[in-house]
Amino acid sequence: MKSECAAIDALLDERRRFAPPPGFVARARVADPAVYAEAEDWEAYWERWARRLHWFSPWSTALEWSPPDARWFQEGTLNACYNCIDRHLPEGAGRPALLWEGEPGDRRRFTYGELATEVERFAGVLKSVGVGRGDRVAIYLPMIPEAVFAMLACARIGAPHSVVFAGFSPDSLADRINDAGAEVLVTADGGYRRGKVIALKRNADRAAARCPGLRSVVVVRRGQGVGSDGVEMTVGRDHWYHELAQSVRDGCSAEPMGAEDLLYILYTSGTTGKPKGVVHTTGGYMTQVYATTRTVLDLRQDDVYWCTADVGWVTGHSYVVYGPLAAGAAVVIYEGAPDWPDRGRFWEICERYGVSVFYTAPTAIRAFMQWGDEWPAARELGSIRLLGTVGEPINPEAWIWYRRAIGGDRCPIVDTWWQTETGAMMISPLPGVTHARPGSACRPLPGIDVDLLNDGGESVKAGYLAITRPWPSMLRGIWGDRPRFLETYWSKWDGIYFAGDGAKVDDDGYLWLLGRVDDVLNVAGHRIGTMEVESALVEHEAVAEAAVVGVEHPVKGQGIAAFVTLMGGREGSDELAAELRGHVADSIGAIARPEVVLFAADLPKTRSGKIMRRLLGDIAAGRAIGDTTTLAEPAVVRGVRERYREAEGG
Ligand code: WTA
Repeated sequence: MKSECAAIDALLDERRRFAPPPGFVARARVADPAVYAEAEDWEAYWERWARRLHWFSPWSTALEWSPPDARWFQEGTLNACYNCIDRHLPEGAGRPALLWEGEPGDRRRFTYGELATEVERFAGVLKSVGVGRGDRVAIYLPMIPEAVFAMLACARIGAPHSVVFAGFSPDSLADRINDAGAEVLVTADGGYRRGKVIALKRNADRAAARCPGLRSVVVVRRGQGVGSDGVEMTVGRDHWYHELAQSVRDGCSAEPMGAEDLLYILYTSGTTGKPKGVVHTTGGYMTQVYATTRTVLDLRQDDVYWCTADVGWVTGHSYVVYGPLAAGAAVVIYEGAPDWPDRGRFWEICERYGVSVFYTAPTAIRAFMQWGDEWPAARELGSIRLLGTVGEPINPEAWIWYRRAIGGDRCPIVDTWWQTETGAMMISPLPGVTHARPGSACRPLPGIDVDLLNDGGESVKAGYLAITRPWPSMLRGIWGDRPRFLETYWSKWDGIYFAGDGAKVDDDGYLWLLGRVDDVLNVAGHRIGTMEVESALVEHEAVAEAAVVGVEHPVKGQGIAAFVTLMGGREGSDELAAELRGHVADSIGAIARPEVVLFAADLPKTRSGKIMRRLLGDIAAGRAIGDTTTLAEPAVVRGVRERYREAEGG
């Protein structure tokens, strides 16, 4: 007990020191304490930011709010791609835009001028396969420059993209293509991960077989080593990108889009089995993404910026592509794993490109911390001036380590809370302004208002995180499912957004995010619905019933523990557990693979037949062994933590 208190005291002492580091000067003039006061007239604040973008024609009203429907910058027209590229030309044509590195060490660089050429060509290719304004295009690509070209090309011609993380299974891809009604899919022959080749085209073919509406598949060829020799092209449906590109005449101007025209759909997990397509539009989204890139990430044209997220997630959309390119920065993109060929790969990249702003997830930070100080210490990281984190709550130990071992105690850390649905950062310190506290995302950003509410809608010190007024980059709906949109986010209180997170506020008004309050798990910063995993499990012929819970995991934040009951005659074994784990990975994607599968004779249920998840969670965490009479093998349960370790190894 005593030593624990001492540790907490030490932490509090540390906290006092987390004023903005003395040497740090925010580059954006907006990072000034007065900005909070200036933003009190929040509609005017967002209009000021909108004016910093390029518009083809001005808006008439800042906001029309008829809860839960917001229309920002009505009648204004703009183009997201134009704001990321054309706006920087011709002066910026020679400045670096993308600095790409592949896992095997291959490198490609593009200036803003070259980016313009590539994106216009890509747009021409999309047009040549019949993509027009409003048509949805599915993108299933690894982290290669073409992923960015494809997204921006869609934005340029007014075709909403639906990017699907390349780690998702063929079934997950097919569900997303069908739900969005995409007729065109962009993919590649393959990708790399930890020295292994991922046969993307083969996955795409399996998905396509389940997508009757899919007309064309455009395939980016990477060539040697990624299995392109084995790629089968279906005549009439499949086209090599480079072949189509040959007949594209240069030049494709940016379509003026209405501020409320669709920019993209991005699928994310919810509490039901089916992922939902979060809808984002153009004007408000670009405004808030740009504003937060400038104020929170403090990005300017002369920054070399690296956000390690994949473009398959919202962080990749807002803070790999749209925000940093709109700010005119140089964006580093790395395709592979952080521990390939060794655990120093990220720091080698930071050193090579002179990264100045680095944005990653707590899971990654905890892994780096475990791998030891020697890896970052071996590299020259003096170019880094600002650090960010996103995706899950960060524990104070990891925060302090990040600041010291990566930031040399001279860089502020921005712990940014937001969601696929919010489109852009909502709660975060402002670098150079906020006295940060490790583990707290601090305060809502200027122009944003949040509250902590109980079920009755009263303000409380610890409760549900609620967003109490509209914000520019808010989701405009769930694709094709208005009832779910209303039910999920807007049914708890009147006209107030329910985020699905719990939080508390301290006496100084700092917010401490506590994780999800619904059936959504956060595994290594990835959202996974328990129902999705359960549906995958019960599809297996051996499984009768399944219940999935999150269990604390030292690196991933949460891990997945699956309790299953088996069909009559089947018996649990290590082999079957391994098979079921593999089955979930095959049917959803490797990120959803349970750490442990536990066989039970029965699942504890309430009288009304609801599975008692909390009890299962306690059991999995080893807290409720006494109550496990309905479970066949409490001894197995007790070993859940050890099993984690085994599973990690295997
Ligand atoms: C969690 C990722 C604590 C939260 C941008 C949220 C966080 C979910 C933080 C959204 C943070 C994200 N501190 N929790 N700084 N950032 N979360 O949609 O539970 O993939 O609801 O968006 O991640 O995940 P999503």
